[in-house]
Amino acid sequence: MPEIIIDGRAVTVADGVTVAAALMSEGIRSWRTTRIAGNPRGVFCGMGVCFDCLVTLNGEPNVRACITPVEPGDVIDSQQGTGHDGGVS
Ligand code: FES
Repeated sequence: MPEIIIDGRAVTVADGVTVAAALMSEGIRSWRTTRIAGNPRGVFCGMGVCFDCLVTLNGEPNVRACITPVEPGDVIDSQQGTGHDGGVS
């Protein structure tokens, strides 16, 4: 079971889950805000089409959480706006 960091907190998640599934398993339903209005977003389509689930993964913003598998040691940060203004951890 991979150990990862979510917004600065170490957690262990099930093998083979996506980043979105890992976030939701920790009770997190929204992990980014929209660029202009700052509205919360999480999973919408769940299949890589809508881009609502963008997250910062290992310092790289705009990764689709719903189609990206978790790897051991991943650092997942909530994303604000474009994701180029820095993460939490
Ligand atoms: S939820 Fe739509 S692309 Fe991820």
